[in-house]
Amino acid sequence: RTVYLNGQFVAEDAAQVSIFDRGLLFADAVYEVCSVIDGRIIDYAAHMMRLERSLAEMTIDYDCSAADWPGILATLIERNGLTEGTIYMQISRGAADRDFLFPAPGTPATVFAFTQARSLVANPMAERGMRIITRPDRRWGRRDIKTVQLLYASMMKMEARAAGVDDVWLVEGDVITEGSSQNACIITPQGHLVTRDLGHHILPGVTRLSLIDIARESGITVEERPFTIAEAQGAAEAFVTSASMFVMPVVEIDGLSVGDGRPGVETMALRKAYIDHAR
Ligand code: PDD
Repeated sequence: RTVYLNGQFVAEDAAQVSIFDRGLLFADAVYEVCSVIDGRIIDYAAHMMRLERSLAEMTIDYDCSAADWPGILATLIERNGLTEGTIYMQISRGAADRDFLFPAPGTPATVFAFTQARSLVANPMAERGMRIITRPDRRWGRRDIKTVQLLYASMMKMEARAAGVDDVWLVEGDVITEGSSQNACIITPQGHLVTRDLGHHILPGVTRLSLIDIARESGITVEERPFTIAEAQGAAEAFVTSASMFVMPVVEIDGLSVGDGRPGVETMALRKAYIDHAR
């Protein structure tokens, strides 16, 4: 692959960062993942807005408009012949001798991006639906910032794997915050779409936001509010949203089937509507 690092396009083997990079030593970095269908980026503007917000919240001194991001991403797509997959972008506070305190202003940020080819539209998981388990949400309290502190999510995905299921929904008490790397949504027996309200407790998902608009346009009532494990298990349908999964049905929560245990009709209609919007 050709990757982007600090202003240059290089072969992936030639891309090197300092062992003192704060992204490595303190997870002092933010990131974005955008998906690409038919060689085009989905929801680009919303991803860049969230990236700018993450940088501001972390006080990382990097101005996104200082580089031609549309051009960088277009070059990565072209040089790697990417038609379908994801683009990952990361910006860290840069390299400085190890110290908990932030380095002096003017330390250049470390900036990189790379592509991953994978099929997103024809995902077999959408046919069978995901089985998930719930686990306590033990991440830090600023989950609205997209930092690279992903160890807890990684550990929870390993627990899901060991339990023979597909992923984890994180809970505080019996209230669902979000998936390990997706936002969690349900369709109530009345046909309302329910998803957790925004705040410091969840990531403001770009897919979640687009989908709320799509759902409202098609006449579905959307409620942004907390919901419990029991409400989700008793829901008509359940699903997750993320840049790489789009809208993905959830058919089982902690061993109990949701609805008839098959991907929901509304969910699959929303998946199709989201992919159509992306194209
Ligand atoms: N994950 N919640 C968390 C904790 C996430 O990590 C993600 C994204 C989402 C969904 O956000 P969006 O719709 O903007 O992708 C929600 C990405 C895909 C990842 O880390 O790979």
